[in-house]
Amino acid sequence: MGLIDWDETMSVGVEEIDIQHRQLILLVNESYEALQRHDEDKIPALLEKMKEYAAVHFETEESYMKRNNYPGLEAHKLKHVRFKKDVEEFQQKKYEKTNLSKLFVYLSRWLTRHIMDEDKRYTVYMRSKA
Ligand SMILES: [Fe+2]
Repeated sequence: MGLIDWDETMSVGVEEIDIQHRQLILLVNESYEALQRHDEDKIPALLEKMKEYAAVHFETEESYMKRNNYPGLEAHKLKHVRFKKDVEEFQQKKYEKTNLSKLFVYLSRWLTRHIMDEDKRYTVYMRSKA
Protein backbone atom coordinates (compact mmCIF):
# COMPACT_ATOMS: atom_id res chain seq x y z
CA MET A 1 0.00 0.00 0.00
CA GLY A 2 1.33 3.36 -0.99
CA LEU A 3 1.23 6.61 0.90
CA ILE A 4 -1.69 7.72 -1.23
CA ASP A 5 -4.10 5.41 -3.00
CA TRP A 6 -5.93 6.73 -5.99
CA ASP A 7 -9.53 5.60 -6.29
CA GLU A 8 -12.52 6.58 -8.38
CA THR A 9 -13.66 9.17 -5.83
CA MET A 10 -10.60 11.18 -6.86
CA SER A 11 -11.60 11.29 -10.52
CA VAL A 12 -12.08 14.78 -11.92
CA GLY A 13 -13.88 13.37 -14.94
CA VAL A 14 -11.17 14.29 -17.47
CA GLU A 15 -9.20 11.24 -18.52
CA GLU A 16 -5.94 13.01 -19.34
CA ILE A 17 -5.89 14.76 -15.97
CA ASP A 18 -6.87 11.62 -14.04
CA ILE A 19 -3.98 9.75 -15.68
CA GLN A 20 -1.58 12.52 -14.68
CA HIS A 21 -2.89 12.56 -11.11
CA ARG A 22 -2.32 8.82 -10.88
CA GLN A 23 1.20 9.20 -12.23
CA LEU A 24 1.94 11.98 -9.74
CA ILE A 25 0.68 9.82 -6.87
CA LEU A 26 2.80 6.94 -8.16
CA LEU A 27 5.91 9.13 -8.05
CA VAL A 28 5.15 10.28 -4.49
CA ASN A 29 4.58 6.66 -3.46
CA GLU A 30 7.89 5.65 -5.04
CA SER A 31 9.75 8.20 -2.90
CA TYR A 32 7.86 7.09 0.18
CA GLU A 33 8.70 3.44 -0.47
CA ALA A 34 12.38 4.40 -0.75
CA LEU A 35 12.11 5.89 2.74
CA GLN A 36 10.47 2.75 4.10
CA ARG A 37 13.25 0.60 2.63
CA HIS A 38 15.82 2.93 4.26
CA ASP A 39 16.96 3.80 0.79
CA GLU A 40 17.11 7.51 1.59
CA ASP A 41 19.83 8.17 -0.98
CA LYS A 42 17.32 7.61 -3.76
CA ILE A 43 14.86 10.18 -2.42
CA PRO A 44 16.37 13.43 -3.79
CA ALA A 45 16.32 12.19 -7.40
CA LEU A 46 12.84 10.68 -7.05
CA LEU A 47 11.44 13.87 -5.56
CA GLU A 48 13.04 15.95 -8.27
CA LYS A 49 11.34 13.72 -10.83
CA MET A 50 8.02 14.16 -9.01
CA LYS A 51 8.47 17.96 -8.99
CA GLU A 52 9.25 18.02 -12.71
CA TYR A 53 6.24 15.87 -13.48
CA ALA A 54 4.06 18.11 -11.30
CA ALA A 55 5.17 21.10 -13.41
CA VAL A 56 4.11 19.33 -16.62
CA HIS A 57 0.82 18.34 -15.06
CA PHE A 58 0.09 21.86 -13.76
CA GLU A 59 0.64 23.18 -17.29
CA THR A 60 -1.88 20.68 -18.68
CA GLU A 61 -4.42 21.66 -16.04
CA GLU A 62 -3.90 25.38 -16.44
CA SER A 63 -4.27 25.28 -20.22
CA TYR A 64 -7.41 23.16 -19.81
CA MET A 65 -8.89 25.75 -17.43
CA LYS A 66 -7.84 28.58 -19.75
CA ARG A 67 -9.42 26.93 -22.82
CA ASN A 68 -12.65 26.60 -20.88
CA ASN A 69 -12.58 30.16 -19.50
CA TYR A 70 -12.60 28.92 -15.94
CA PRO A 71 -12.97 31.98 -13.68
CA GLY A 72 -10.90 30.43 -10.87
CA LEU A 73 -7.80 30.04 -13.06
CA GLU A 74 -5.62 32.71 -11.43
CA ALA A 75 -6.35 31.57 -7.88
CA HIS A 76 -5.71 27.97 -8.92
CA LYS A 77 -2.39 28.90 -10.54
CA LEU A 78 -1.26 30.44 -7.24
CA LYS A 79 -1.86 27.12 -5.47
CA HIS A 80 0.39 25.41 -8.01
CA VAL A 81 3.11 28.04 -7.52
CA ARG A 82 2.84 27.58 -3.76
CA PHE A 83 3.22 23.82 -4.08
CA LYS A 84 6.39 24.20 -6.15
CA LYS A 85 7.84 26.64 -3.61
CA ASP A 86 6.98 24.38 -0.67
CA VAL A 87 8.61 21.35 -2.32
CA GLU A 88 11.72 23.41 -3.09
CA GLU A 89 11.90 24.49 0.52
CA PHE A 90 11.88 20.85 1.62
CA GLN A 91 14.58 20.10 -0.95
CA GLN A 92 16.78 22.87 0.44
CA LYS A 93 16.52 21.37 3.90
CA LYS A 94 18.62 18.45 2.70
CA TYR A 95 16.13 15.74 3.51
CA GLU A 96 16.85 15.41 7.21
CA LYS A 97 14.76 12.76 8.96
CA THR A 98 12.20 15.10 10.55
CA ASN A 99 12.07 17.11 7.38
CA LEU A 100 11.34 13.94 5.41
CA SER A 101 8.42 12.85 7.54
CA LYS A 102 6.98 16.35 7.36
CA LEU A 103 7.47 16.30 3.61
CA PHE A 104 5.44 13.12 3.16
CA VAL A 105 2.65 14.35 5.42
CA TYR A 106 2.63 17.55 3.38
CA LEU A 107 2.59 15.76 0.00
CA SER A 108 -0.17 13.33 0.87
CA ARG A 109 -2.37 16.04 2.39
CA TRP A 110 -1.74 18.54 -0.36
CA LEU A 111 -2.36 16.14 -3.23
CA THR A 112 -5.46 14.59 -1.74
CA ARG A 113 -7.03 17.90 -0.75
CA HIS A 114 -6.02 19.65 -3.94
CA ILE A 115 -7.47 16.97 -6.19
CA MET A 116 -10.63 16.43 -4.13
CA ASP A 117 -11.34 20.10 -3.62
CA GLU A 118 -9.58 22.53 -6.00
CA ASP A 119 -9.36 20.32 -9.07
CA LYS A 120 -12.87 18.97 -8.79
CA ARG A 121 -14.12 22.53 -8.61
CA TYR A 122 -13.13 23.26 -12.21
CA THR A 123 -14.73 20.11 -13.59
CA VAL A 124 -17.95 20.86 -11.72
CA TYR A 125 -17.89 24.31 -13.32
CA MET A 126 -17.19 22.95 -16.82
CA ARG A 127 -19.98 20.43 -16.46
CA SER A 128 -22.47 23.06 -15.32
CA LYS A 129 -21.67 25.06 -18.47
CA ALA A 130 -22.03 22.12 -20.84
FE1 LIG B 1 -4.57 21.64 -9.75
